[in-house]
Amino acid sequence: MSETGTHASEAVAVAAERRWGIIVAAIIAALVAMMIFTGVHWASMPPSRVETIDPRTLHISGEFVESNLGTAVEADGKVVVRLVAQQYSFEPQCMLVPAGTPVTFRGTSSDVVHGFVVGTTNANVMLIPGYVATFTTTFRKTGAQLMPCHEYCGTGHAAMWAHFQVVPQQEFMAKVRKGERLTCVSR
Ligand code: CUA
Repeated sequence: MSETGTHASEAVAVAAERRWGIIVAAIIAALVAMMIFTGVHWASMPPSRVETIDPRTLHISGEFVESNLGTAVEADGKVVVRLVAQQYSFEPQCMLVPAGTPVTFRGTSSDVVHGFVVGTTNANVMLIPGYVATFTTTFRKTGAQLMPCHEYCGTGHAAMWAHFQVVPQQEFMAKVRKGERLTCVSR
């Protein structure tokens, strides 16, 4: 190889190294910027309100007595699902909600930390004794889903799950009678 040929290939190698050096440094800088941004973003948002509840009296009085669990249409038209998790089941064992409508969940635990996720949807929350977990989401697709507990809660954890049924809005509204709690638990 001639003298010039060696120099040319060396220059190509140096340029390639520099190029990759810049790309890798840019990726690292972008990741660090992302970490700083999300950290500052979350730290600058106050936590949503914290609602506490006495887990020892859940079944005796208040919002989470058995007769008040399930899906209800509130006076203001909001669809609210109330549920309680306990070792090793959810109450009610089958939730019924309308599709295409915002659904608010209100849940808590009567013993240890549980959680649930509805199928492959973004409905996913932890249920912590002493606290009321709440979030609102809309289910687009109708059909049956499984709702497993996703926080290890003891030896029966793997067997802890509920059924979840999303029905068309008209079908749901047809089932709603004022003040009644809906579930899809077969009696
Ligand atoms: Cu309840 Cu795991």
